[in-house]
Amino acid sequence: MSGPPIPFNRAEVSAADLARAAEAVSAGHISGGGPATREAEQLLVELHDGARTLLTTSCTHALELAALLTEPEPGAEVIVPAYTFVSSAAAFLLHGLTPVFVDVRDDTLNLDVDAVEAAITPRTRAICAVHYAGVGADPDRLEALAARHGLILVEDNAHGLGGTWDGRRLGTFGAASTLSFHETKNITCGEGGALVVNDAALVERAEILREKGTDRARFFRGQVDKYTWVDVGSSWVMSDLLAAILVGQMGRLDAIQARRHALWDRYAAGLAGWAAARGVRLPVIPAEAGHTAHMFQLWMPDLATRTQFIDHLRGAGIMAVFHYQPLHLSDVGRRLGGRPGQFPVTEDAGDTLVRLPLFVGLTEADQARVIDRILEF
Ligand SMILES: Cc1ncc(COP(=O)(O)O)c(C=O)c1O
Repeated sequence: MSGPPIPFNRAEVSAADLARAAEAVSAGHISGGGPATREAEQLLVELHDGARTLLTTSCTHALELAALLTEPEPGAEVIVPAYTFVSSAAAFLLHGLTPVFVDVRDDTLNLDVDAVEAAITPRTRAICAVHYAGVGADPDRLEALAARHGLILVEDNAHGLGGTWDGRRLGTFGAASTLSFHETKNITCGEGGALVVNDAALVERAEILREKGTDRARFFRGQVDKYTWVDVGSSWVMSDLLAAILVGQMGRLDAIQARRHALWDRYAAGLAGWAAARGVRLPVIPAEAGHTAHMFQLWMPDLATRTQFIDHLRGAGIMAVFHYQPLHLSDVGRRLGGRPGQFPVTEDAGDTLVRLPLFVGLTEADQARVIDRILEF
């Protein structure tokens, strides 16, 4: 090892972010729905063309809200990429929609829109699209497809806050979209998320579902004189303590994205020749995509080479990590009918993809060390 260990990710919460959390304590409001929540939600509203945005305890919970908003009939299905985080499917299954997996495109690892269309049945209620690595998943085509078939498009935008597609913000194409503020994301408060409700007709129910099934939001707006239990729901409100941290992070969004893009570009430039010579693939960014530099991933030629590569870097104190395992081959996925060979692009990415360290605090010297060690491989 020729230097201190380089982690895969290190969340950066600044002293100013923490001071905001302390202010929330001094002001005497640390549960949800206070001044910090309103401020953070307003900052997110501005990034989503004015759509009502609700902070939640996680992206997973925002996805659960989205699932409930689809009001599924018994037997309803949701189309989900086979290559994604568990929550994109599990949140729907929990609320009565059976995930129907489809394969992803081999350049962006986003939903293959033709495969989505082929998977639509009379039972399909929704499509959950992930903007993998903050690169848009053809959201305009998915929006049109959903409209044509009367389906609800949900964007799992855990990676894509602030990203664009053809100049339009990611997260504004679906009836609803979800964000994650988990510590691995570009903007973080440890654990947290948000639901962006683009379809105004769904806003009131989303507020009720998030507030334990009560009309508390109406009460706070002075629309009713007491609040009561009106629907199903759960406790998915983010604490103002975390919202305060989020306000600080949101204030630095442009600087954070600029820093991540600088690191991303340096990886792309530094590794291009090596990758071409070794049969290693680098990320592909379609012309329409304004991406978020959420991750820098490599596709190694095969599983054995990826294992050697990760071990090689680990020997130099550098943490590179693989990503999703194919959902259709998980225990639950197999119970839903998944079988090996069904989704070749997903299965290949599960075996060969590896992500490099990429976080705001990664110094140029440390990144140069990562690149040098890779070039040795
Ligand atoms: C695509 C995607 N969706 C959802 C999630 C879940 O986010 P959270 O941890 O905020 O629930 C993740 C987490 O990494 C993710 O990558």
